[in-house]
Amino acid sequence: MSTVTKPAPAVVSAAPAAKPTVPFMLPQLHEADIEAVNKVLRSGMLRAASKCEELEKRLGEMSGAKHAMTCANGTCALQLAYEPLFKRGDDVLVPAWSYIATAAMLVARGCNPIFVDADPATGQIDMNDAAKRVTKKTTGIAATHMYGTPVDIDAVQDLAKKHGFKVVYDCAQSHLSTYKGQPVGKFGDAVTYSFYATKNLGTGEGGMITCNDDALARQIKLLRSHGETEKYLHEQVGYNYRMNDMAGAIACSRLDRLPAETAARQQAAARYDNLLSEFAAYITPMRATPGSVSVYHLYTLKLNIEKLRCSRDEFSKQLMAEGVPSAVHYPRSLPQQPAFKEFMGMQTAPWPIADSLGARVLSLPMHHGLTDAHFDQIINAIRKVIANNKA
Ligand SMILES: Cc1ncc(COP(=O)(O)O)c(C=O)c1O
Repeated sequence: MSTVTKPAPAVVSAAPAAKPTVPFMLPQLHEADIEAVNKVLRSGMLRAASKCEELEKRLGEMSGAKHAMTCANGTCALQLAYEPLFKRGDDVLVPAWSYIATAAMLVARGCNPIFVDADPATGQIDMNDAAKRVTKKTTGIAATHMYGTPVDIDAVQDLAKKHGFKVVYDCAQSHLSTYKGQPVGKFGDAVTYSFYATKNLGTGEGGMITCNDDALARQIKLLRSHGETEKYLHEQVGYNYRMNDMAGAIACSRLDRLPAETAARQQAAARYDNLLSEFAAYITPMRATPGSVSVYHLYTLKLNIEKLRCSRDEFSKQLMAEGVPSAVHYPRSLPQQPAFKEFMGMQTAPWPIADSLGARVLSLPMHHGLTDAHFDQIINAIRKVIANNKA
């Protein structure tokens, strides 16, 4: 018996169609980036040195912050920011809709994450909900600028001022974003960044904390490097959470292009917004917070699954069959993560928005290299998948 079967139409086949796949992201390095790393390698100075310092100076300034400290990754950046600002046993408000690190590092600090629901239009922390969840033990807010978009910073700062809270903004996804005309490094007690490979400024691994307070900057620097004030003199216990100069060299080289690449992402997002309006009954793109300028780390939308006969995962599979990859950020809310089950007893209300996003969010290809042909392919694929799945 022949094992050759007739190929199914692309839209119902699990296998990718015989058409080029649109790149989901564009993480390639340029020759200049590679040369910058080679220079570090040839110098033999591999540890955090002049390249990390250059990055701190340049990205710190671009972010509007007085102090910038590179570190090993965005998770370490959160830990280094939380440790001096929050105490063991504190309740800290944190989005139910974020990457796990924002809340997990609160737990590492010995704090209780108090999960706040998401705003349905933006997917960002809902500050009206946050105000309702404040407890007697609450001392801070850890808010994530999700998808490239700043949160409602005025509302965060107002709540913080009212209660004397400390504020950390997790900016792992939102390098160079602005709020009411100001770079996001101007706000809060500390802002943390990730340079993970896929981030807008990716180096493989890497991170940074910015702040505007001299004493806090000193504390973070001490914690980053075993509390060392001079060679082998340790003022306090700390960690080795330093970055290295190979990563620093990549970041500095890529930073030259970041403003132009960010502008290209913003143009791509505007184009998506425009083209997707045709599918308004089925697709709602995440909106930017009023007053914010997003840098579109991701272009994420919500599927109106009630109007479709397929699940989000099936929708994504059928797009892939048309050569259009997509991704899910994220498949479940943080309160739905088993990792946080011991903190569920202290939560006062459910998270209807965040919990529902897990089944309906979808991120489309987003990078500075999207072409007319890519957009044609993406929009045609979406049109086809919707036509095949209308409820
Ligand atoms: C919102 C957010 N916070 C924190 C992190 C952690 O950064 P890293 O992977 O560099 O530790 C990430 C990375 O994915 C993130 O997206």
